[in-house]
Amino acid sequence: MLANKTIVLGITGSIASYKSADLASKLTQDGARVEVIMTESATRFISPITFRGVTSRPVVTSMWEMSSGFSIEHVALAEAADIIVIAPATADIIAKLANGIADDSLTCTVLATKAPVLIAPAMDTGMWRNSITQENVARLKTRDFTFIEPGYGHLASGCVGEGRLADIRIIIDTIRQILGRNGDMAGKRIVVTAGGTHEAIDPVRYIGNRSSGKMGFAVAEAARNRGAGVVLITGPTALPDPAGIEVIHIQTAIQMKKAVVKTVAKADVLIMAAAVADYMPKRQTTQKIKKTAAGRALTLDLVETPDILAEVKGGFLRVGFAAETEDIIENATRKLRNKQLDLIAANDVTASNSGFEVDTNRVTIISQDGKSEALPLMSKKEVAGRILDKVLKLLNGKPGAKGHTH
Ligand code: CTP
Repeated sequence: MLANKTIVLGITGSIASYKSADLASKLTQDGARVEVIMTESATRFISPITFRGVTSRPVVTSMWEMSSGFSIEHVALAEAADIIVIAPATADIIAKLANGIADDSLTCTVLATKAPVLIAPAMDTGMWRNSITQENVARLKTRDFTFIEPGYGHLASGCVGEGRLADIRIIIDTIRQILGRNGDMAGKRIVVTAGGTHEAIDPVRYIGNRSSGKMGFAVAEAARNRGAGVVLITGPTALPDPAGIEVIHIQTAIQMKKAVVKTVAKADVLIMAAAVADYMPKRQTTQKIKKTAAGRALTLDLVETPDILAEVKGGFLRVGFAAETEDIIENATRKLRNKQLDLIAANDVTASNSGFEVDTNRVTIISQDGKSEALPLMSKKEVAGRILDKVLKLLNGKPGAKGHTH
């Protein structure tokens, strides 16, 4: 949630300016106070009325309009901002900012602010690649300016290349990351696993399960938004990579184990939300298995996969999930004991609004001392927050816990 956050959204003159209406709308819907400042040329591409409509706030378009109140307010906006986001940012605004020019409302506000500034450039490939633009970018990066690299694709010029405004989703993710960097998990390193694994039978078939990855992604994103450094190890999912998180894609349980072992040594916490396959085909054929004579059964020999959570141990907290269909608390408690976990989140995957594929979950969090807390049905995002609250308590209570020195 972006409640209580003031986001100053600077819009400069680019054909991509229309996309900022969606950005302003989504940020407002998420609770932020969005103060839009448009450059003169931005107003040629999209009307300030659109932004006024989606933010319910006055839009600053000129330093000289008495009615805008900006002449008195511009320092106030610079001070009120928790973050300034310029999206889309032209080569021109980047050049001005790199040189301390303050000749309009937006440049004045940026020059006056102590808040972090996030810049999402959008321009023609040639302008972006030009060494002058790149030098300006490099100069700003040495200050508290963060850049979101422009995307590759269709450009207004009709060409295909680098220079498209990054996805609004990535811009919002990065805003959350920057706003959360002094959060209560700052300095903590978390490894999260998500999704199911695919265990190949032959080149075209695999054994898999219904895990969508949503719970693990929600945990990873919530930890990022609280300032943690996050590694997300995920099996195949339909979800896009979240920004501000190191994402490692794997297919099989064995690959997941390797990735966990490699990354967890430096971590404070391992949270295994992945639905790891328990069995994999003993042999994997290199050619597609053919249908046999009609009526003849096909038998697959399966062997156990490594139990990652049970086998990977160290000085970090270990948190598991238990996907159950019956005797939920008993089964989950047994897993907590057998795998010697610090916490386990148990959920009934047979309930229609809980478990696989849906956006909500109903979990009971059980800790080592046997205490359990049954949470009501809530979004996976909220469940993630509650799990992290418990993780943080344990981390802070851990004898000698100072976090790792990284
Ligand atoms: N897990 C794991 N490696 C496996 C299987 C499971 O690390 N090969 C982890 C899961 O990520 C989860 C926890 O162990 O955090 C419990 O997973 P679950 O599938 O509920 O339990 P299992 O131990 O596999 O037991 P069962 O399938 O018999 O219920």
